[in-house]
Amino acid sequence: MNTRPAPAGSAVPTDAHPSVRIVVEAPEHGAAFDALVDRVFGPGRFAKVSQRIREDNQALADLCFMALDGAQVVGGVRVWPIHVGGQPATFLGPVAVSPDLRSQGLGAELILRACAAATAAGHGVVLLVGDRSFFEPLGFAEVPRGQLTLPGTADPARILWRELTPGAGAALRGPVIPG
Ligand SMILES: CC(C)(COP(=O)(O)OP(=O)(O)OC[C@H]1O[C@@H](n2cnc3c(N)ncnc32)[C@H](O)[C@@H]1OP(=O)(O)O)[C@@H](O)C(=O)NCCC(=O)NCCS
Repeated sequence: MNTRPAPAGSAVPTDAHPSVRIVVEAPEHGAAFDALVDRVFGPGRFAKVSQRIREDNQALADLCFMALDGAQVVGGVRVWPIHVGGQPATFLGPVAVSPDLRSQGLGAELILRACAAATAAGHGVVLLVGDRSFFEPLGFAEVPRGQLTLPGTADPARILWRELTPGAGAALRGPVIPG
Protein backbone atom coordinates (compact mmCIF):
# COMPACT_ATOMS: atom_id res chain seq x y z
CA MET A 1 0.00 0.00 0.00
CA ASN A 2 1.20 3.47 -0.78
CA THR A 3 1.11 5.25 2.55
CA ARG A 4 2.25 8.55 1.06
CA PRO A 5 -0.71 9.88 -0.84
CA ALA A 6 0.11 12.08 -3.79
CA PRO A 7 -1.04 15.69 -3.67
CA ALA A 8 -4.76 16.19 -4.08
CA GLY A 9 -5.77 16.71 -7.66
CA SER A 10 -3.03 14.73 -9.33
CA ALA A 11 -3.78 11.57 -11.26
CA VAL A 12 -1.25 8.95 -10.25
CA PRO A 13 -1.06 5.22 -10.70
CA THR A 14 -1.69 3.34 -7.47
CA ASP A 15 0.31 0.49 -6.00
CA ALA A 16 -2.93 -1.47 -5.95
CA HIS A 17 -3.08 -2.23 -9.63
CA PRO A 18 -0.85 -0.94 -12.41
CA SER A 19 -3.70 0.28 -14.59
CA VAL A 20 -5.65 1.99 -11.81
CA ARG A 21 -5.17 5.68 -11.11
CA ILE A 22 -6.77 7.95 -8.54
CA VAL A 23 -8.21 11.28 -9.60
CA VAL A 24 -10.37 13.99 -8.05
CA GLU A 25 -14.01 13.18 -8.77
CA ALA A 26 -15.38 14.91 -11.87
CA PRO A 27 -19.05 15.23 -12.86
CA GLU A 28 -18.76 12.40 -15.38
CA HIS A 29 -17.81 9.92 -12.62
CA GLY A 30 -20.87 10.54 -10.46
CA ALA A 31 -23.39 8.10 -11.95
CA ALA A 32 -20.90 5.24 -12.22
CA PHE A 33 -19.77 5.67 -8.61
CA ASP A 34 -23.39 5.86 -7.41
CA ALA A 35 -24.06 2.59 -9.25
CA LEU A 36 -21.01 0.96 -7.63
CA VAL A 37 -22.17 2.14 -4.20
CA ASP A 38 -25.65 0.73 -4.82
CA ARG A 39 -24.11 -2.55 -5.87
CA VAL A 40 -21.76 -2.98 -2.91
CA PHE A 41 -23.98 -1.59 -0.12
CA GLY A 42 -27.36 -2.84 -1.34
CA PRO A 43 -30.75 -1.35 -0.54
CA GLY A 44 -30.01 -0.91 3.20
CA ARG A 45 -27.84 2.03 2.25
CA PHE A 46 -30.72 4.46 2.49
CA ALA A 47 -31.53 3.50 6.08
CA LYS A 48 -28.04 4.36 7.25
CA VAL A 49 -27.38 7.34 9.44
CA SER A 50 -24.53 8.31 7.11
CA GLN A 51 -27.02 8.67 4.30
CA ARG A 52 -28.95 11.24 6.33
CA ILE A 53 -25.80 13.32 6.57
CA ARG A 54 -25.42 13.17 2.80
CA GLU A 55 -29.03 13.99 1.93
CA ASP A 56 -29.60 17.62 0.97
CA ASN A 57 -25.87 18.19 1.26
CA GLN A 58 -23.20 18.99 -1.32
CA ALA A 59 -20.00 16.91 -1.32
CA LEU A 60 -16.73 18.81 -1.03
CA ALA A 61 -15.62 18.39 -4.64
CA ASP A 62 -11.87 18.72 -4.04
CA LEU A 63 -11.95 16.04 -1.34
CA CYS A 64 -13.76 13.33 -3.34
CA PHE A 65 -11.59 10.84 -5.21
CA MET A 66 -12.27 8.18 -7.81
CA ALA A 67 -10.21 5.13 -8.73
CA LEU A 68 -10.29 4.69 -12.51
CA ASP A 69 -9.25 1.70 -14.58
CA GLY A 70 -9.10 3.33 -17.97
CA ALA A 71 -12.33 5.32 -18.01
CA GLN A 72 -14.13 2.90 -15.71
CA VAL A 73 -14.86 3.89 -12.11
CA VAL A 74 -13.65 0.99 -9.94
CA GLY A 75 -13.70 2.74 -6.57
CA GLY A 76 -14.18 6.02 -4.85
CA VAL A 77 -14.65 8.04 -1.72
CA ARG A 78 -16.71 11.14 -0.98
CA VAL A 79 -16.36 13.75 1.76
CA TRP A 80 -19.11 16.08 3.00
CA PRO A 81 -19.28 19.25 5.04
CA ILE A 82 -20.85 19.04 8.49
CA HIS A 83 -21.11 21.23 11.56
CA VAL A 84 -20.93 19.98 15.11
CA GLY A 85 -21.85 22.39 17.87
CA GLY A 86 -21.39 25.25 15.42
CA GLN A 87 -17.90 24.09 14.43
CA PRO A 88 -17.14 22.98 10.85
CA ALA A 89 -15.85 19.47 10.19
CA THR A 90 -16.01 16.85 7.45
CA PHE A 91 -17.79 13.52 7.08
CA LEU A 92 -16.32 10.71 4.95
CA GLY A 93 -18.43 8.18 3.08
CA PRO A 94 -19.22 6.21 1.19
CA VAL A 95 -15.97 4.50 0.32
CA ALA A 96 -16.30 1.60 -2.05
CA VAL A 97 -14.06 -0.53 -4.24
CA SER A 98 -15.14 -2.91 -6.96
CA PRO A 99 -15.12 -6.48 -5.57
CA ASP A 100 -12.62 -7.73 -8.16
CA LEU A 101 -10.01 -5.17 -7.07
CA ARG A 102 -10.23 -5.49 -3.30
CA SER A 103 -7.47 -6.27 -0.80
CA GLN A 104 -4.83 -4.53 -2.89
CA GLY A 105 -4.71 -1.34 -0.85
CA LEU A 106 -7.04 0.70 -3.03
CA GLY A 107 -9.61 1.41 -0.30
CA ALA A 108 -6.89 2.55 2.09
CA GLU A 109 -5.29 4.71 -0.57
CA LEU A 110 -8.58 6.44 -1.40
CA ILE A 111 -9.15 7.25 2.27
CA LEU A 112 -5.61 8.52 2.75
CA ARG A 113 -5.94 10.71 -0.35
CA ALA A 114 -9.18 12.19 0.99
CA CYS A 115 -7.60 12.85 4.39
CA ALA A 116 -4.54 14.44 2.81
CA ALA A 117 -6.74 16.70 0.71
CA ALA A 118 -8.84 17.63 3.75
CA THR A 119 -5.68 18.51 5.66
CA ALA A 120 -4.41 20.61 2.76
CA ALA A 121 -7.76 22.42 2.65
CA GLY A 122 -7.42 23.35 6.32
CA HIS A 123 -9.99 20.99 7.83
CA GLY A 124 -9.37 19.73 11.36
CA VAL A 125 -11.44 16.54 11.63
CA VAL A 126 -12.75 13.76 9.37
CA LEU A 127 -15.69 11.91 10.93
CA LEU A 128 -17.25 8.66 9.69
CA VAL A 129 -19.32 5.67 10.68
CA GLY A 130 -17.43 2.47 9.94
CA ASP A 131 -15.55 -0.56 11.12
CA ARG A 132 -12.77 0.30 13.51
CA SER A 133 -10.59 -2.62 12.44
CA PHE A 134 -10.45 -1.21 8.91
CA PHE A 135 -10.13 2.49 9.75
CA GLU A 136 -7.87 2.42 12.82
CA PRO A 137 -4.69 1.66 10.84
CA LEU A 138 -5.58 4.71 8.70
CA GLY A 139 -5.43 7.05 11.71
CA PHE A 140 -9.05 6.90 12.88
CA ALA A 141 -10.12 6.41 16.49
CA GLU A 142 -13.42 6.05 18.29
CA VAL A 143 -15.07 9.36 19.17
CA PRO A 144 -15.48 9.67 22.96
CA ARG A 145 -18.92 8.28 23.67
CA GLY A 146 -21.66 10.86 24.06
CA GLN A 147 -19.64 13.72 22.61
CA LEU A 148 -21.50 13.77 19.27
CA THR A 149 -25.07 12.96 18.31
CA LEU A 150 -25.71 11.65 14.81
CA PRO A 151 -29.04 12.12 12.99
CA GLY A 152 -30.15 8.53 13.63
CA THR A 153 -28.98 5.45 15.46
CA ALA A 154 -25.38 4.30 15.15
CA ASP A 155 -23.33 1.89 17.20
CA PRO A 156 -21.02 4.19 19.21
CA ALA A 157 -18.13 1.80 18.54
CA ARG A 158 -18.48 2.65 14.83
CA ILE A 159 -18.43 6.44 15.22
CA LEU A 160 -14.84 7.27 14.36
CA TRP A 161 -12.81 10.33 13.57
CA ARG A 162 -9.37 11.26 12.46
CA GLU A 163 -8.03 14.47 13.94
CA LEU A 164 -6.09 16.10 11.13
CA THR A 165 -4.96 18.75 13.59
CA PRO A 166 -4.10 17.20 16.96
CA GLY A 167 -6.82 18.01 19.49
CA ALA A 168 -9.24 19.43 16.91
CA GLY A 169 -11.96 16.98 17.99
CA ALA A 170 -12.29 18.57 21.42
CA ALA A 171 -14.23 21.50 19.94
CA LEU A 172 -16.83 19.21 18.34
CA ARG A 173 -19.66 18.61 20.80
CA GLY A 174 -23.35 18.08 20.19
CA PRO A 175 -25.50 17.21 17.20
CA VAL A 176 -23.94 16.56 13.81
CA ILE A 177 -25.64 18.82 11.25
CA PRO A 178 -25.18 18.31 7.50
CA GLY A 179 -23.72 21.20 5.54
C1 LIG B 1 -14.15 -1.44 2.54
C2 LIG B 1 -13.58 -1.43 1.15
C3 LIG B 1 -13.71 -0.04 0.53
C4 LIG B 1 -12.08 -1.77 1.23
O1 LIG B 1 -11.53 -1.70 -0.07
P1 LIG B 1 -10.15 -2.45 -0.39
O2 LIG B 1 -9.61 -1.86 -1.63
O3 LIG B 1 -10.35 -3.90 -0.37
O4 LIG B 1 -9.29 -1.99 0.87
P2 LIG B 1 -7.80 -2.33 1.21
O5 LIG B 1 -7.19 -3.21 0.15
O6 LIG B 1 -7.11 -1.08 1.54
O7 LIG B 1 -7.93 -3.16 2.55
C5 LIG B 1 -8.44 -4.44 2.49
C6 LIG B 1 -8.44 -5.07 3.87
O8 LIG B 1 -9.44 -4.46 4.67
C7 LIG B 1 -10.28 -5.47 5.19
N1 LIG B 1 -11.65 -4.96 5.28
C8 LIG B 1 -12.45 -4.62 4.27
N2 LIG B 1 -13.64 -4.23 4.75
C9 LIG B 1 -13.55 -4.31 6.09
C10 LIG B 1 -14.45 -4.04 7.11
N3 LIG B 1 -15.67 -3.58 6.88
N4 LIG B 1 -14.02 -4.25 8.38
C11 LIG B 1 -12.79 -4.71 8.64
N5 LIG B 1 -11.88 -4.98 7.69
C12 LIG B 1 -12.27 -4.79 6.43
C13 LIG B 1 -10.21 -6.59 4.18
O9 LIG B 1 -10.51 -7.83 4.80
C14 LIG B 1 -8.77 -6.54 3.73
O10 LIG B 1 -7.95 -7.25 4.59
P3 LIG B 1 -6.78 -8.16 3.99
O11 LIG B 1 -5.88 -7.21 3.27
O12 LIG B 1 -6.16 -8.77 5.20
O13 LIG B 1 -7.42 -9.09 3.06
C15 LIG B 1 -14.23 -2.50 0.24
O14 LIG B 1 -14.15 -3.75 0.89
C16 LIG B 1 -15.69 -2.20 -0.06
O15 LIG B 1 -16.01 -1.51 -1.04
N6 LIG B 1 -16.57 -2.73 0.78
C17 LIG B 1 -18.01 -2.52 0.60
C18 LIG B 1 -18.35 -1.12 1.02
C19 LIG B 1 -18.09 -0.88 2.50
O16 LIG B 1 -18.39 -1.72 3.33
N7 LIG B 1 -17.55 0.31 2.81
C20 LIG B 1 -17.38 0.77 4.17
C21 LIG B 1 -16.47 0.00 5.04
S1 LIG B 1 -16.76 0.31 6.77
